[in-house]
Amino acid sequence: TDLASFAYGLPKAELHLHLEGTLEPELKFALAARNGIDLAEKTVEDVKATYNFTDLTSFLAVYYPAMQVLQTADDFHDLAWAYLQKAHSQGVVHVEMFFDPQAHTSRGVPFANVIGGYRRAAVRAQDELGISAELILCFLRDFSAEYAMATLMEALPYKAWIVGVGLDSDERGNPPEKFAAVFARARSEGFFLTMHCDIDQVGSIDNIRTVLTEIDVDRIDHGTNIVEDPELVALAIEKGMGFTCCPVSNSFVTEQMKSEEIVGLLRQGARVTLNSDDPAYFGGYVADNYVALAEQAGLARDELVQLAINSFEASWLTPSRRAAYI
Ligand code: HPA
Ligand code: ZN
Repeated sequence: TDLASFAYGLPKAELHLHLEGTLEPELKFALAARNGIDLAEKTVEDVKATYNFTDLTSFLAVYYPAMQVLQTADDFHDLAWAYLQKAHSQGVVHVEMFFDPQAHTSRGVPFANVIGGYRRAAVRAQDELGISAELILCFLRDFSAEYAMATLMEALPYKAWIVGVGLDSDERGNPPEKFAAVFARARSEGFFLTMHCDIDQVGSIDNIRTVLTEIDVDRIDHGTNIVEDPELVALAIEKGMGFTCCPVSNSFVTEQMKSEEIVGLLRQGARVTLNSDDPAYFGGYVADNYVALAEQAGLARDELVQLAINSFEASWLTPSRRAAYI
């Protein structure tokens, strides 16, 4: 079989996927029509013409405004369900999906609409596709720690539907320690913890050190800049720390997939995984990321298999459910 069929066919988990980053232009138009919203763009090409990102900030400037079309629980359901069907076609059997409640509550959409719609799609994925789908609540790091804590409190009644908490959005001036108390509270409530340490951000290596040694997260999102400090790499390997790398996304926000860094970490034995991040914007779902990295870095098939194994090992499945996949 060819590389793409092999990569698509590998059973895999996806661990770094922003549901709001799966909003394809076609669905955006359908939801706008349903909600009576007049969009500035009239065609799919118009929408794609706005996708000229050069860094994280310019990506976020397109990502947040698009969310205005998401309003009702059905809208959130339809968004997640479209993604889950796509993921199914790319070999995903388990997914832990980020969502950004503050991107919705901050514009007046009730938290219940967001989580209610997403949860309905997750249950449906189990029933109709055999995919186990979990939700990770992400705090927006460019909002205050107080707003993050209030969001955590608002989420507690839905605790059974949320596997962990994460941290995303603009990292500049918003280091992990800003949210230390929020994450300590989330830990005490029984959530798994992860944080974005985005590619090539100022102070990235310091943020990676903080999340590894002080916050003591269960996983790091991106985190590829760890290669700058071999002692930290050794510590991460010793801890079995999972890294959720996103090569196609990297090529948009930094002009490089960072394949040398990703493959170097993989070959040293770090628990590297491949993921799609915001696939509607970056143009590649998870298996496409396996293919892109394999083509660029000349990965052997057993290395693609190792990446898929890593995706289950770095997941937050219970040990017995994890064992069923490896
Ligand atoms: N980094 C930070 N914030 C984000 C991302 C990301 O990769 N995707 C969506 N929000
Ligand atoms: Zn991300």
